[in-house]
This record gives sequence, structure tokens and C-alpha cells, in this order.
Amino acid sequence: MSNKGTLDLATGLGGKIDKTDVLSAVDKYEKYHVSYGGKEEERKANYTDMVNKYYDLVTSFYEYGWGESFHVAPRWKGESLLESIKRHEHFLALQLGLKPGQKVLDVGCGIGGPLREIARFSSTSVTGLNNNEYQISRGEVLNRNAGLDKTCNFVKADFMKMPFPDNSFDAVYAIEATCHAPDAVGCYSEIYRVLKPGQCFAAYEWCMTDAYDPNNKEHQQIKAEIELGNGLPDIRLTSQCLEAVKQAGFEVVWEKDLAVDSPIPWYLPLDTSHFSLSSFRLTAIGRFITKNMVMALEKIGIAPKGSQRVQNFLEKAAEGLVAGGKKEIFTAMYFFVARKPVHGAQ
Ligand SMILES: C[S@@+](CC[C@H](N)C(=O)[O-])C[C@H]1O[C@@H](n2cnc3c(N)ncnc32)[C@H](O)[C@@H]1O
Repeated sequence: MSNKGTLDLATGLGGKIDKTDVLSAVDKYEKYHVSYGGKEEERKANYTDMVNKYYDLVTSFYEYGWGESFHVAPRWKGESLLESIKRHEHFLALQLGLKPGQKVLDVGCGIGGPLREIARFSSTSVTGLNNNEYQISRGEVLNRNAGLDKTCNFVKADFMKMPFPDNSFDAVYAIEATCHAPDAVGCYSEIYRVLKPGQCFAAYEWCMTDAYDPNNKEHQQIKAEIELGNGLPDIRLTSQCLEAVKQAGFEVVWEKDLAVDSPIPWYLPLDTSHFSLSSFRLTAIGRFITKNMVMALEKIGIAPKGSQRVQNFLEKAAEGLVAGGKKEIFTAMYFFVARKPVHGAQ
């Protein structure tokens, strides 16, 4: 659990958005989504505005509830949520075969929780790419606190147009981030371009599974809740992601939906019927307490106006994720390792 308090949550809420503009930003953000009449084409055309508004609004909630790593993980019996999150990061480093001294790119790095863990685990230099200025400012403080500011850095840019020369990195990974891309082939092609030939890209992707029926109203509603609650323009099928990796030029080393074999479901921490002391803030009682604190802080003007609305769409996100996970129509861990062929040098 994070060591950030409710006051940090309230004061960080809105990120780089002026506190007096938070309510109108919530309005604008919600209107991008199906439940508020929004269209997929608009979300895709305005993905930078939509995704940045989302992360400005929610980052302090994420940090308060999840800590420094903003992703879920498959989990073994007897393992805590935090242990499973770190193991998921170590697994990625092992699958990429990271070696000390290598230059690694983290695409869509959040506030850098995975970046710091992977850099320490593998003795590599990790660059975190992120288009959200507020998250980068948080990440820089946390890197300094961890003593990693000399070997790891952040770059503010869009992963659809990366400011790096061709063949720059020894490895690239993305954790639950490229799902925000308006076009998977475009995003993976940029990753392909900046990766050195013969080297690998690995990712945990958010996807709809083959069990998703686009004509089923309940499935549609779950998908829309996940999009609204998580700043997504659309959610691709696992098969579409795999096809996009190949179209970008990669050879797929292996791929699998890791949710399938997880002894404890990844969505359990978000399920209100589950109780855990170690992830108390994510439980029904923890969320109830946070809701009331945020309501009170908004009333007395410490949290900006619109704060409770942010919490409401995050509740929708949790409901959608749990329903999608239970019905097995959605996965937060479609995993693949893909290699840029040696003959792919540009
Ligand atoms: C769910 S968070 C995951 C963060 C991080 N990988 C982690 O696990 O802690 C998704 C991240 O992708 C970033 N992101 C979304 N769209 C992006 C874009 N077009 N370019 C760069 N970063 C982007 C967001 O700002 C956010 O940091």
C-alpha cells in the first residue's frame, strides 16, 4: 500500500490542470465516452487530450491506492499484491534477458514504479517515456529518492512519435500502456524503429478476449465502462494485438494470456466482495472511507471541485474490470515477447 495520505491525494488531484479547471476537465473527459454519448473516432482523433486529462485527474488516486506501479499481476496463493506486482516486473526483465549496462525503454512508464524495480533488478539504465507531464514530475522525485536519477531518466513524448534515433535501445517493454494508442500498428512500428536489430520488445496488453461478443449488450457495457474508467480510445482483441505486432515487422517469440493460469485472479483486489488488510484502500470499506474523505475535502475546498466525479468514474472502472475479468471477456495481461529481426536494420 502507498505511504501517501488522503491529503496528498486531495492536493495532487488534477495533476497539472489548474485546480479551478478540474470540474470542467472532468466534464470534457466524460463526454469522450460512450456512456456520455462519445464516439470511438473522437477518442482516437483526440487521444492526447483524452489520455492526458485522464492521468492528470486520476494519478493521485492511483498512487494512493496502488503505490508506485500502476498495473495488476497474476498472483500465487500466499503472495501479497505488492509481491505479485514486483514478480510480474521481474518476469518481464527475465523474458527480455536484460543484462547489466543495457539501455532499456519503458513505453508509457507512469510514475516509474516498474522502471525503478526493473533497473535495480537487472542493473540496466531505463528511460521512461510518458506523455503526461505531471506523472514525469512525480517520477523524477521518486527516482531521486531511490538514488536512480543518474542511471534512469524520463522523456516527455508521445509513443506514436518518439524522439529517439533508429536502433537506440537494447530492449523495450510496455506495461498496460500501449492500450492507450489510437492505432496499435503505428505504436508498435515506432517501438520497432527505436529497438536495435536482433533485440526484443515485451508487453502486457489490455485486450478483449475471444469470449467477447460485440453484439452482446452486457459485454458492450462492460467494455464501455473499462474505456471510461481507464482513458482508453477502444480495446483491441488479443488477436488484433498479435496481428499488429507482426505487421509492425516483429517475429513473435511467444505469446499468452497470463490471466488464464493465474491461481488468484488479477481483478481480486478490485472486487468489493474481497477483503485484504495489505491492500485495504482497494477494498469496499477502504473505498467507502476514501469516498467520504474526498467528499469532505472537496466541501472544505482542499480537494478541487470535481474530485468526487473522478472517484465515481474510477468506481465504474473497477466494476467494469471485475465484471470483464470474471466473464473472461477481458484480460489485463495479454503477454508477448517479439524480436526485431537482424535483417530489419534501418
Ligand atoms: C496504466 S498506466 C501504466 C504505467 C506504468 N507502465 C506502470 O505500470 O506503472 C499507462 C501509462 O501510459 C502513458 N501513456 C498513455 N498514452 C501515451 C502516449 N501516447 N505516449 C506516451 N505515454 C502514454 C500514461 O501517461 C501512463 O503513464
